[in-house]
Amino acid sequence: MFITFEGIDGSGKSTQARLLAGALDRAGHAVRLTREPGGSPGAEEIRRLVLEGDPDRWSPETEILLFTAARRDHMEKTVRPALAAGQIVVSDRFADSTRVYQGISRGDLRGLVDQLHGLMIGQEPDLTFVIDIDPATGLDRARARKGHEERFEDMGLAMQERMRAGFLSLASEFSGRVAVIDGARAPGAVADDILRLTLARLAAARPA
Ligand code: ADP
Ligand code: TYD
Repeated sequence: MFITFEGIDGSGKSTQARLLAGALDRAGHAVRLTREPGGSPGAEEIRRLVLEGDPDRWSPETEILLFTAARRDHMEKTVRPALAAGQIVVSDRFADSTRVYQGISRGDLRGLVDQLHGLMIGQEPDLTFVIDIDPATGLDRARARKGHEERFEDMGLAMQERMRAGFLSLASEFSGRVAVIDGARAPGAVADDILRLTLARLAAARPA
């Protein structure tokens, strides 16, 4: 099973991906925790290119190519081998992030994102958690741990609002695989919901 976490910066994706991977591991499942952009040595190199430096460093189109190149390497080197070995893959962000960030932040490029996804990736997660949070809270949380990956984190509140709306709209578009989780609660309460939904999905996927 391929599980992804999505949502705006500071919504709690990394925290929840880690908690879910730990809980599944304790329940006896083989789990591979990974992230995007990154998750393989080549994709981590591309991560530095896209997340560090001048905000105007890349055109929107070049940025889509870079995120998709990173994803392709991540799929080849990490995700597909782990799934083939029977592991549950838990990824902190995946293609829905490109649909939202590159698809709507600098013009309407969703068609281009989807075309490239179809050509080069061609796979969707089995289950996606969109962690939903008020953008002001997300921004405060993200700024509190500010580092050197600042190209996207200075987007400001109005843009975070648009990104949040973008994730919620994807959740309706892909309602079969996407669950929206209220992230404005204690981490343990959020994690309980996520684990319950994941275990239900795993049980449903298992042959009787
Ligand atoms: P994301 O990966 O979505 O950017 P993180 O999991 O890195 O979010 O969380 C951002 C910050 O908020 C971290 O400092 C984390 O410890 C904190 N945090 C995460 N979840 C919660 C929560 N439910 N309540 C309060 N703070 C949280
Ligand atoms: P991430 O490290 O998950 O940031 P955060 O923990 O703050 O949510 O991702 C870094 C940034 O990369 C984030 O601002 C969103 C952006 N991003 C895209 O713009 N497109 C993509 O396809 C992906 C995977 C991430």
